[in-house]
Amino acid sequence: MERTLIIFKPDAVNRLLVGRILTRFEDKGLRISAMKLQQSPVEQVKKHYEVHQRKPFYNALVEFMTGGPVILVVLEGPHATTVVRNMLGATDGREATAGTIRGDFGLDQRYNLIHASDGPETARTEIELFFKPEEIVDYTRAPDRWIVSK
Ligand code: CDP
Ligand code: MG
Repeated sequence: MERTLIIFKPDAVNRLLVGRILTRFEDKGLRISAMKLQQSPVEQVKKHYEVHQRKPFYNALVEFMTGGPVILVVLEGPHATTVVRNMLGATDGREATAGTIRGDFGLDQRYNLIHASDGPETARTEIELFFKPEEIVDYTRAPDRWIVSK
């Protein structure tokens, strides 16, 4: 089992797409381990995207991500980081394959609806940045035994 962090970005919240997109992750079988809505502090967003500090889009990205509330979710499942990244599609909605979230809902390289951790190591760091340990819940759902074989 692996955990990954996803963020419903302010465009997803403002376009009323949260329910439809969350349904895709639930339909896939992924389990929600934590979830909350927040207005992100600038410093937290800067830290989250610090690898992009020197990119020309960095300031605009921080402005976008603090321009409205976001919903943070920890998802759990086998190979969750890879599975979820594949569900997102390419960064730019214009290039993302149809059938992916960005391919189906987006037309932009910045307003691309969802963030997801790019690997298990990044996921650990990102989850720690946004959640306290006690906000993450370990549990199983009745259908889990029909979702992942032993
Ligand atoms: O989110 P992802 O890992 O697919 O893309 P990234 O290359 O790590 O970039 C992080 C975020 O920066 C993207 O998800 C976009 O929201 C934003 N971005 C941007 O504003 N302008 C670009 N030219 C590229 C990315
Ligand atoms: Mg990235």
